[in-house]
Amino acid sequence: MKIDRDAPIGVFDSGVGGLTVAREIMRNLPSEKIVYFGDTARVPYGSKSRETIIRYSRQIIRFLQEQQVKAIVIACNTASAFALDAVRDELEIPVLGVIEPGALVAARETRNKRVGVIGTIGTVGSGIHEDFLRKLDPEITVFGKACPLFVPLVEEGWLHDPITFEVARRYLRELQEREIDTLILGCTHYPLIRSTIREVMGEGVRLVNPAYESALELKRLLTEEDLLSTGKEQEEFPYRFYVSDLADKFKSFANSILPYDVEMTQKIDIENY
Ligand code: DGL
Repeated sequence: MKIDRDAPIGVFDSGVGGLTVAREIMRNLPSEKIVYFGDTARVPYGSKSRETIIRYSRQIIRFLQEQQVKAIVIACNTASAFALDAVRDELEIPVLGVIEPGALVAARETRNKRVGVIGTIGTVGSGIHEDFLRKLDPEITVFGKACPLFVPLVEEGWLHDPITFEVARRYLRELQEREIDTLILGCTHYPLIRSTIREVMGEGVRLVNPAYESALELKRLLTEEDLLSTGKEQEEFPYRFYVSDLADKFKSFANSILPYDVEMTQKIDIENY
């Protein structure tokens, strides 16, 4: 199959969180076009089963294929943990998740080989970081901690708030006691409270942002496959946003975190896919 290098990149997430990944793609691959899908009707993914997340991911991928994307980034950590392996072999275009890029950097950065992972109940429960990190380096010990309250706090906009700080202190205490030196921010929303997490964990712990690392990995992958955009085909909307519910709410959150003015957000019926 001949892939059009000037086609957009498909990026999807359970809702707004994956915009942290889209933002890094915009910054690091400014010539690329993006079709973003946020599954705002069925969020959260973090507390749902593997089977459900695979079904949702397949539906979204069918929608993105209809948009003729050249590659797909599963921006959601939970969907990457549960669905990447299942869908990768079903597609002819490159598919990238956000787990491996973060884990690779953590394996490289840790000195004491004690790595923490925070994420949703689904991501942490899947044990995927541990599997991956131990394959890279069997001496690494992984300590996971689900932090489900971080997602609603971020969506409420409480990014620099004493309540968020207190919640972080309670969640992260046990990772501090484990003396980790590297912490993977294994959920789309967590880069937005990075400074709070930094304050709690201290300067001595390296924070890995999978959103950023995934954008770099995407750049490597597109370069390797000769799929980087030529940047010649200009479009009125280089970034298009689709959601399964509440398009206006999505748009205002997107405008608060993206370096781009989101004008168009369209609701689609994802159950039709
Ligand atoms: N996007 C999800 C993740 O990165 C967090 C929100 C959710 O639970 O759907 O795991």
